[in-house]
This record gives sequence, C-alpha cells and structure tokens, in this order.
Amino acid sequence: MLADERMKGTCLVTGAAGFIGSHLVDRLMALGHRVIGVDNLTLGTRANLATALTHERFSFGELDLNDVEACLAFLRAETVRCPIETVWHLAANSDIQAGGRDPDVDLRLTFLTTYNVLKAMQVLNIPQLVFASTSAIYGEHDGLLDENTGPLFPVSNYGAMKLASEGIITAALERFLKRAWICRFPNVIGSRATHGVIFDFLRKLRANPKELEVLGDGAQEKPYLHVSELLDAMLFVFERGPGRLNCYNIAPETGATTVRHIAEAVVQAAAPEASTRYTGGSRGWVGDVAKFRYSTKKLKSLGWSPKLTSNQAVELAIRENLHAQ
Ligand SMILES: NC(=O)c1ccc[n+]([C@@H]2O[C@H](COP(=O)([O-])OP(=O)(O)OC[C@H]3O[C@@H](n4cnc5c(N)ncnc54)[C@H](O)[C@@H]3O)[C@@H](O)[C@H]2O)c1
Repeated sequence: MLADERMKGTCLVTGAAGFIGSHLVDRLMALGHRVIGVDNLTLGTRANLATALTHERFSFGELDLNDVEACLAFLRAETVRCPIETVWHLAANSDIQAGGRDPDVDLRLTFLTTYNVLKAMQVLNIPQLVFASTSAIYGEHDGLLDENTGPLFPVSNYGAMKLASEGIITAALERFLKRAWICRFPNVIGSRATHGVIFDFLRKLRANPKELEVLGDGAQEKPYLHVSELLDAMLFVFERGPGRLNCYNIAPETGATTVRHIAEAVVQAAAPEASTRYTGGSRGWVGDVAKFRYSTKKLKSLGWSPKLTSNQAVELAIRENLHAQ
C-alpha cells in the first residue's frame, strides 16, 4: 500500500477530546481521513472537538475505554462499511501527581486502557497502532536519553504504566498486531492544554494575581515541544518509520527550558506585579524527573527536525494559553 493511500484510511483516536488528541483529530481530518474519536470526557471536553463535530467524516463516542463491550458495540456500528486501519492511542491519565497519590489511577487509565484497546483491536482485526509514550518511562539517567537507554526504572506510577503499555504492545506484535509506532513525547505544550506547567501557572495567577507558587526550586529543566510540531513528527514517523516496530523519541533538537524561565515568562505575560515563591527541593513532586534531555538522532536521521527551540515553543504556548482558560 502506498503511503498516500494509508493516509486516507479510517482512524480511531482515543483520548480524542483531550489536549493532544483533539489537535490530532483536526490534523487527520484535514488530511482526508475518516476519524472516529473516543473519550470519556474526564479531562477532555467537547469544546476541543468543536470543528470536528461539524464534519460528517468525524464521529464521537463518549465512552470509557475500559468498558470494552460498550466500545466494541460503538466501533462495530461505526465501521460496518469501512474498517479501522490505525488506532492512535492517546487516552491515559495525564495527571502524574494524581497517579502518585493513588496508584489505581495509572493502573486503570494508563495501563488498562492500553490493554483494553489492544483487546478491542484484536476482536475488530485492526492492524496498526500508534502509541503516545513518554520520557517518564526512562526514570532518572545522566546524559542524553536515546531509544536504547536502559535499564528502564521509571520513578512514577505513570511512567511505570506507560512502560508496561509499551511491553504489551510489543507482545501484541507477536500475536496479531501488524505494525506499531511508539512515540516517546517530551513535555508537550500549546492551545487546549488540560494540564501542565504553563496551564498550572496561569490558573494559579488567575486565582491569586499577587503571587505565583512554583513547586520545587525552579531548576528543573526539560525539553518542551509545541503540539503542532509533535503532530508533524508523529505523522512523519507514521509515514516513514521503516519497521514493524518503530520507536522514536520526539523533542526539540537542542535545548531545554527551566521551570524558573517558564515562571518568569508567565508572570511577565499574565501578572507582571506578582512575586514568585519557590517551594524548594529539586523535584516538583513525587515522581517528577527534574532534568532530562533527549537524543533525537534517530528521528533526525529519518529526516525530521523541529523548527522551534524549547524556549520558542514555551513563548508561543504562553501566548496561546493566556486568554484560554
Ligand atoms: N502533554 C504532555 O506533555 C505529554 C507528555 C508525554 C506523553 N503524553 C501522553 O499523550 C497522551 C495525550 O495527553 P494529553 O496531554 O493530551 O492529555 P489529556 O488529559 O488532555 O488527554 C487524555 C484524554 O484521555 C481521556 N481519557 C482518560 N482515560 C480515559 C478512559 N478510560 N476512556 C476514555 N478516555 C479517557 C481524557 O478524558 C483526556 O481527554 C497521553 O497518553 C499522555 O500520557 C502527554
């Protein structure tokens, strides 16, 4: 099958009403796909799908992926004439701190959603899966993280359940899955954010324009990627990834941004008079990996590089989120 033909097939996006999922839905629609979205709306919103919902090539099921029978009934009805070729599995718990307080959260929302998506894919004979993975699977390592870095000892329940998800995806390749793409995201930012550092800082400043509380000492330093570039990279990897299993780190090429830099930029944009109070300690919360850097050599050698630096992505996302919440 030619890449162009593959790009027009029917796709299922899980977590479709969330931050990244809703942007992915819009992008796949613009590429001419028929798109089916599933989300239980615990974090996502219908408003994120406002454009897609007006389109006849889009259908949406407000469903919990862990209710496999309900999902199968919905998907069977939606695919009578046109089978699903690819699942883009983005549904998960995105609140890492909540998963630290209660490990059930990531077991159910991060791992079992993947397990149940695979179960439904086997029943419906869906051959391809693209998975939203994360830097959190690596745990704490010095130096650049590349796709072969190991051993992998995650320090959050979220990272542990994402790593377990990667494991059952690769095991499914031995059983029924034809191809899989594992995309390990960095920190992703942009409009429609449902969480994350910029979202949190703006929300805090709205509640108290006089002071911004920052978790940790502000020296945490991570790469930030704009959602538009993340999707460029995912679609590129989907088209060009050569293997049955394609695993890629996705990140800005160089650089990372400190939490202190983000705090100062958000205060400047939203409440220039506010003071900033750091709670102290090198980690923002239990399970936070305070510093990491990705090697993007593998992605670059496939032919893709982002245009924005981490700091530029942060500036753009602050402007986009300023009046959005
Ligand atoms: N945003 C980031 O910086 C980042 C970084 C690394 C990985 N990721 C991964 O990317 C994916 C998308 O993240 P996001 O930032 O858009 O988060 P998000 O919370 O905005 O989106 C996740 C969506 O999944 C839905 N969902 C959760 N449990 C569900 C269930 N049981 N059934 C149906 N829907 C369910 C939520 O309602 C939400 O809309 C997630 O898998 C996340 O782990 C995100």
